[in-house]
Amino acid sequence: MENQEKKRILSMYQCTGTFTLGNYLGALRNHIKLQEEGYDCVYALADLHALTVRQVPAELRKYTKEAYAFLLAMGLNLEKTVFFIQSQVPQHAELAWILNCYTQFGELSRMTQFKDKSAKHADNINAGLFTYPCLMAADILLYQADYVPVGADQKQHVEIARDIAERFNGIYGDTFTVPEPMIPKHGARVMSLQNPLSKMSKSDENQNGNISVLDDPDTIMRKFKRAKTDSGSEVRFGEGKDGVNNLMGIYAAVTGKTFEEIEREFEGKGYGEFKPAVAEAVIAELRPIQERYREIVADKAFLEQTYREQAPRAQAIAQRTLSKVMKKVGLVQ
Ligand code: TRP
Repeated sequence: MENQEKKRILSMYQCTGTFTLGNYLGALRNHIKLQEEGYDCVYALADLHALTVRQVPAELRKYTKEAYAFLLAMGLNLEKTVFFIQSQVPQHAELAWILNCYTQFGELSRMTQFKDKSAKHADNINAGLFTYPCLMAADILLYQADYVPVGADQKQHVEIARDIAERFNGIYGDTFTVPEPMIPKHGARVMSLQNPLSKMSKSDENQNGNISVLDDPDTIMRKFKRAKTDSGSEVRFGEGKDGVNNLMGIYAAVTGKTFEEIEREFEGKGYGEFKPAVAEAVIAELRPIQERYREIVADKAFLEQTYREQAPRAQAIAQRTLSKVMKKVGLVQ
């Protein structure tokens, strides 16, 4: 009963590599905080989505378990939050099929992510890549989510999920909560350290551009020291100073300081002092999480037991929606 009054938040994460500092500061850290802000959170690892691009099977499995352990290490609280692996909850694939039949070829063709990814993987434009938004809509609608926290790149997918929900509700009567995108208040947009005009990404060709949340302190220090900055040496936020702006954004996100405070702190000091300070702050932020992470991954039995126990919790919620849908569309139960 209590849970029905709380607004539900749903988010899922692709787990095709180790999370980056960008994932951490831009999304994960804020999503973990939402647990404490009176929301009913449902989180999952989107391993079925990962299959739209060819994966090395052993690696996908490894990254999925690592990502699971990492979110636990960050303080994801299983008493408050349901946290599962998508493929362990078959209702996602089942509802996705049904939603495929309520989504138009034309609207899927207009998805910018589909256009980008099919340009990038021209040799593997598979049907899953095309209908990816239907699976994502199923992820969201199964849980009757009120809000989906997303970055700009996923907003279009939440919008199509809304369109699908409204269309279905229009034909069959109220079935799905129509979800709203939630644009995070404090989500830092972290750019590549080597090319501050593009987003930090685990698939960056230049690994010096991306900080992995599992990088050791020496690596983090080295990458920050090599970070591209502009000519000039003043630590000051400004137009065209993308490298420094990015470092300031990271430092602000980690320390909670404002840009003015940072400018004052480094007044008269150059990039040479600023870069290692940013690195130290990031190292200090990640250290306790990395320590807990190592304990959790070392205990394979615990990890396995945990995600196995979570799947039925998610299935119970998801099945309620799926049963309603099956009945409405005329499937025999
Ligand atoms: N498509 C999202 C991404 O690439 C991951 C995702 C899958 C997701 N299902 C979701 C995000 C449902 C929010 C809600 O980042």
